[in-house]
This record gives sequence, C-alpha cells and structure tokens, in this order.
Amino acid sequence: MNKIGIIGNGYVGTATGKGFATSPENQIFSYDKFKESPNTLDEVVENSDFIFICVPTPIFSDYSGMDMSIVEGVVGEVAERVKDSGKIVIIKSTSLPGTTKKMAEKYPQVDFAMNPEFLTQKNANADFLKPYRTVIGCEKLEVGEKVKGIYQTILPPDQKYIITDTASAELAKYMSNLMLASKVLLANEFYDLSQKVGANYSDVQKAVEADPRIGTHLGVPGPDGDRGFGGACFPKDTIGILGLAKQIGIDMSALQAIWDKNLKIRQNRDWEEMPQAFKKDTE
Ligand SMILES: NC(=O)c1ccc[n+]([C@@H]2O[C@H](COP(=O)([O-])OP(=O)(O)OC[C@H]3O[C@@H](n4cnc5c(N)ncnc54)[C@H](O)[C@@H]3O)[C@@H](O)[C@H]2O)c1
Repeated sequence: MNKIGIIGNGYVGTATGKGFATSPENQIFSYDKFKESPNTLDEVVENSDFIFICVPTPIFSDYSGMDMSIVEGVVGEVAERVKDSGKIVIIKSTSLPGTTKKMAEKYPQVDFAMNPEFLTQKNANADFLKPYRTVIGCEKLEVGEKVKGIYQTILPPDQKYIITDTASAELAKYMSNLMLASKVLLANEFYDLSQKVGANYSDVQKAVEADPRIGTHLGVPGPDGDRGFGGACFPKDTIGILGLAKQIGIDMSALQAIWDKNLKIRQNRDWEEMPQAFKKDTE
C-alpha cells in the first residue's frame, strides 16, 4: 500500500488526492491549514511515505516576483519531522528554479522530489489523470523512480515520464505555461492585423490551429471574453520568471514585451483578486 500525504487542499492538492485515490493500492492522508481537513499535519507526516506539497506560490503585489515563502515554510515544518525516515517530500507547487535544490541543501537528511503539475483549473480532476507527460525532478534517481512508481498505479501503461534534476523539472513547468501565454498575445496581434487587412480571423485561426505544432490558445478574445491572458497561472508564472531573470541578469525582453502588451490590452486583472496568485500588501 502506498501511503500518500497531501498538504494544501486547493485545486492541485484535491485533484492529486482524488487522483491517487482511484487506485486501491494507495491510501490518502490530507491536511490544509485553512480548511477543515481529514487529517492533522502530524497525521499526514506520520502516516505518509510520499508527502505532496500543494500550497500557493503567489506573486508580490508590486509585481516584482514570486513569493516562495509558503512553500519554504511548509517544507521546513515537514522536513523537521521526516529527517532520516526515507519519506519523500514532493514539491508540486509551481516553484522558481532552484527552490527544491535549496531545500535539499538546507535539509540534507530529507529526500526531495519536484513534480510540477500541469492540470487546468477548469478540469482539474480529469486533467490530473490524463497528463501529457509526468515530470519528476530529483537529486537521487531512486527517489524519482519511487515517485514514478506511485504514478504507475493510476496512469496508463504508455504514460510518458521525464525524470530529471529538480531545476529542470521546475523550469519545464514555467516554460510550458509561458509558451502558451505567448501564443495568446501573438494571436491578439494577428487578430488586430486581420481586421485591418480584411481577413476573417476565425478562418485564419482554424487554418493555423490545424497545424498540431501550433494547435491551441489562438482564440481572440479568449474563453473568458477578455483580450490577452488572465487567470491564476499565466500572469503569476510570467512575473515569477521575469523577477528571477532580473535578479540573475538574464535578458528576457521578449517575455517582458509579451507581459507589457498583456497589461495594455487586458481589461480585467482578475489575478489580483485571487489569493493563490496575488499576495495583497495586507497579507
Ligand atoms: N490551479 C491550477 O490550475 C494550477 C495548475 C498547476 C499548478 N498550480 C500550482 O500549484 C500550487 C497550488 O495551486 P492551487 O491552484 O491548488 O492553489 P489553491 O489556492 O487552490 O490551493 C492551495 C491550498 O493550500 C492551502 N494552504 C495555504 N497555506 C498553507 C499552509 N501553510 N499549510 C497547509 N495548507 C496551506 C490553502 O488553504 C489552499 O487550500 C501553486 O503553486 C500553483 O501555481 C496550479
């Protein structure tokens, strides 16, 4: 029996718990600091061999970057309790590249893995069970293999697994989201161009989307009726990466231009009202 713990029962944590519960080989324990939970933190940590951390990683309200303090705080609470136990702490929250390595260096007696989640909020539970790929970052290969083992109880036999180092797993999540976000912005520009040159954008969209290399995210306006991109993840992940790039001196001016244009064309900054995406000054 695989004993699986979940910390943070939001979109990702709930889908993770429900997803693993679809196999009788797994037993689930879960805890959320701000919601009524089936278990306490101590029970989750004591009973579980795999502990998934699914807490928020919001951006700062001045848009300077991503706040990793909730993840780091929870890792600290868990790490103290699992030293030398062989339990695996799996960071599932979208985390800045380097976060898991930093935690592994801070708590050397703990085994860590980084397992980014790619589900969409709209279809969280179903997406969790049908991922295009499962990415597992680890310091030790045997840890990655153990995490793969629990996914094999719930995912199809031909599931694609990518086992890599933790920074690569962290970055793969951001790059996936930001490639999609960039498509949204380019689609908005081509929409405006189509109006000027007398083209029918919906036919242009159909023609371009027929190429599986390009495929999705080209509707203008988007599914929420607004221009550009909103929601919890794309804006937050853009700011996370732009903040990191600035800090470490990497030129990401193309991504910066995408973000500037997004702020220009988007009416509703919905992410500012989402506590999982935006850390208000008062918090
Ligand atoms: N929502 C998505 O579509 C999605 C997709 C992929 C990845 N992610 C990432 O997954 C992470 C979680 O996102 P989410 O959408 O599930 O957020 P969420 O806000 O829905 O859930 C987070 C949960 O963590 C709880 N929590 C906060 N602090 C805690 C603490 N100290 N201890 C225990 N529980 C705590 C909150 O009460 C909340 O229920 C984020 O890093 C996000 O970027 C989200």
